[in-house]
This record gives sequence, C-alpha cells and structure tokens, in this order.
Amino acid sequence: MSPGTIALVVVAVSVALWALFMAGLTMRKQRRAAFATAGSGTTTSSGGDRGGASAPPQAQPEQSSPEPEQKPKPAPKKAKPLTNAQMSVSRRQFLNRAWTASFTAFLGFFGMSSLSFLWPKLTGGFGTAITAGSYEDLVGLVGPDAGYKPLFNAEGRFWLVYYEGTGDSPVYLATGWSEDMKLLALYRKCVHLGCSVPHCSKSSLFECPCHGSKYRLSGEYYGGPAPRGLDRFPITLDGDKVVVDTGLPQTGPPRGTSTWDQFSEPTGPLCVPV
Ligand code: FES
Repeated sequence: MSPGTIALVVVAVSVALWALFMAGLTMRKQRRAAFATAGSGTTTSSGGDRGGASAPPQAQPEQSSPEPEQKPKPAPKKAKPLTNAQMSVSRRQFLNRAWTASFTAFLGFFGMSSLSFLWPKLTGGFGTAITAGSYEDLVGLVGPDAGYKPLFNAEGRFWLVYYEGTGDSPVYLATGWSEDMKLLALYRKCVHLGCSVPHCSKSSLFECPCHGSKYRLSGEYYGGPAPRGLDRFPITLDGDKVVVDTGLPQTGPPRGTSTWDQFSEPTGPLCVPV
C-alpha cells in the first residue's frame, strides 16, 4: 500500500470517528436539555412555606458549643420518563444534522484529496535515491567503448556521463567522485532559466535550445548566459549498483572551471549556433 493510500485511509477513519463523536455529543446534549425541561415541572412544590409559617419561633436553650446545622439532604428527584414527542427528532434537528454531516463529509474528502496530492512519493521517482544500474554496465554504455555518449535517465531527470578529469572542484568531492568512480549524474535542468538541456553528439557539449548556454561533457560551463556549470546529484555504490540521490542536488562548478582537457573544447560543429 502506498503512503498516499495510507494517508487517505487514516484521514477517512479520523473524520468518521470525529463525526460520530460530534453526533453522539450533540444527541447527548439534546437529551439532557429535554430531560431538564421535563424534570423542572416537578420541582416547584418541594420547598417553601408549609402553611403554618406565622407561628413564632420557639426559644432555644443556649448551648455552650453550638454544633453546625445539619441540613437535611433533599430526596432524589424521580426522573420523569420522556414522552415520545420529546424523544423524537424534529425537522429542524434533522436538517441541522444532515447539513453538518454533509459539510463534514465534504471537508473530509477535500482534506483527503489535498493530502493525497501533497504527500511526497517516497517510493521512487525524482526526488528520491534511484538505482541506475550496475556500475560495469553503465561504464560500458557511456564510456570510451560507447564513444562517451551520455545516457539519459528519465526517472531521475539526469544525464549519466563518463568522467576522467582531475576532479579539481569542491563539487566533485561533494557528489562522491573518486578515481574509482568514473560516473557523474548531471541534472538536465539548465541553470540559466530551467530548460531541459539535450546533448549534442557532434560537439560533445550539452547545448540549451532556449538561450544557447553550453556545457562541457563534464557539465562544466562552456558558454552562453548560464551563471555556472550544470548542477549534479551525489552518486554512491551499493554493491555493484549505482545509486543516484536526486533529492540532494549540488550546485554546479563556477564559470572558468575546466578539469578534463579531452573535452574542454567542442569536438565538432555546434547544434545550437551562438
Ligand atoms: S534556459 Fe538554458 S540558456 Fe536559458
């Protein structure tokens, strides 16, 4: 069961319990009010004058230590059974309850829909750790044997590229690059205004079609209005599996960074002319 479904069930049960609780509370209040109304008619004759109130009070002998007066406890009132009319639900009460129930149901469904929409999908997809495949396989697909052609991962929205530079920029260490890890995961989103950046196989650059920003195979800045190189995601190895954490994008290297001589310049004509 997905987290979204669990959230829906939890909210539905909570709303139902709350509605039951409120309905019970309301009914109890109404019954108590009806009971009080019915019982008030029997209380008027229990106290007050007893007909001979004009007789003078007899003198009481003085006592050395007066004891506190003991008030007689009133006899418990006998509850009068409610009539059918008092037990029945009036049309106004019925309409009130129906309206409250409908409004509560509407609020419940609205809350469930909102929660379901906003609940993060933590079981996969962009924003989570994605297993891209076996390290050896991926190196074979994007490395020298494959002509350094990047591989796009649609689920994680990143380009997987082979890298054999010096790693001489803090972002390389932050994303888990090492001598033994020859892969980079470059976020395909252009750091200028956010267009998706395709790879140009002729120039071996990533060339943004929107305003012409260009990035080297390593994602480092090459030209155009972009303020820096492409952002990237941390990579780790889980056994021989490559795991890319798309929930932790790292800011790309600043302009002027060039750490791999082999691809510091375009290898052919540009796809997006300057
Ligand atoms: S969005 Fe890529 S260059 Fe402007």
